Amino acid sequence: MSKVTIQAAREPRSSRILGIGGYRPSRVVTNAEIIEHIDSSDEWIRTRSGIESRRWASDEETVVSMSLAAAQKALADAGVQPEQVDCVIVSTVTHLYQTPSAAAEIAHKLGTNKAAAFDISAACAGFCYGLSLASDMVRAGTAGHVVVIGVERLSDLTDKTDRSTAFLFADGAGAAVVGPAAGPAEAGIGPVVWGSDGEHLDLIKQREDWRDALRNEIGPTMPHLVMQGNPVFRWASYEMAKVAQEALTAAGVTVDDLDVFVPHQANMRITDAMARTLKLPERVAIARDIATQGNTSAASIPLAIERMLETGEAQSGDLALIIGFGAGLVYAGQVIRIP
Ligand SMILES: CC(C)(COP(=O)(O)OP(=O)(O)OC[C@H]1O[C@@H](n2cnc3c(N)ncnc32)[C@H](O)[C@@H]1OP(=O)(O)O)[C@@H](O)C(=O)NCCC(=O)NCCS
Repeated sequence: MSKVTIQAAREPRSSRILGIGGYRPSRVVTNAEIIEHIDSSDEWIRTRSGIESRRWASDEETVVSMSLAAAQKALADAGVQPEQVDCVIVSTVTHLYQTPSAAAEIAHKLGTNKAAAFDISAACAGFCYGLSLASDMVRAGTAGHVVVIGVERLSDLTDKTDRSTAFLFADGAGAAVVGPAAGPAEAGIGPVVWGSDGEHLDLIKQREDWRDALRNEIGPTMPHLVMQGNPVFRWASYEMAKVAQEALTAAGVTVDDLDVFVPHQANMRITDAMARTLKLPERVAIARDIATQGNTSAASIPLAIERMLETGEAQSGDLALIIGFGAGLVYAGQVIRIP
């Protein structure tokens, strides 16, 4: 047996988010358009979900093209060149190619120098999952700069006649560039608190697999997402506030230290319930991007951060709590510094 010592990659270091960017599809879909296909009303959708409009992608606005646009903005925001990127992580459940990955195509089209690239599937927790992986890579020295992208075209997998989901899901992409912090005092990504609860696999899921969708008796269709809204709502409102609290504790901070709260944009009422349970001080700015963006799953958190920076609700250097949760059920939350 060889006794040689395997050399560690590098000394452990700290990580932070260096830049954020988003892409919002050009077509705005109003509640009036949604209710042409379901028995509902603009008022019901607004009061039950907080959604006034959402955006659906055109044929030209693909998972790859939206990701590229978001990643290019994030790289420019970070002041990082594509050749400095060592890894691209794409979180999506709506890239319609099982292989090759969206990440490999994006890494190439971004102009990286053959960066490592892979996709992950963690639904609406996907951005926080990807951020955690990226942070650990940078801290361990396996990558210098990592581009994390959350991207969805949920309109492809939404049954426009299903009143429990048709008004909710939307399209878009958000990206972050993760890189080294100057030292431990500059660390910008706290420990992740994450997990899964496969006992509740059925609460939000793709109704049928691709083979069944193709063999459908009415002819080939896209598979569709189905959701039991009320149990998901209760789980998210109560269980996720506990996870958010654990993420604060893991980072050694309290709600009084926070400037910004960016939960996954699932439903405005879930956001409000979490904020109440966490007893967030009035001055903490709360992301409400869902009003005009709908639920964009893995893209929702970076898109919401980008919007808050644009409107001035969040400032560079602010301390933020982010938490993603969704189909699986899966969840992940961490404390970050806004880049
Ligand atoms: C989908 C959601 C908005 C529905 O709101 P809700 O308050 O739970 O609504 P319920 O399913 O309990 O239904 C309440 C009533 O509204 C009706 N209703 C359901 N969908 C409706 C619609 N689209 N339009 C009008 N009425 C509707 C129901 O029939 C029910 O009527 P009843 O009281 O006469 O029986 C909410 O459950 C939700 O946001 N869940 C979580 C979604 C989510 O976050 N998913 C992704 C997680 S990542």
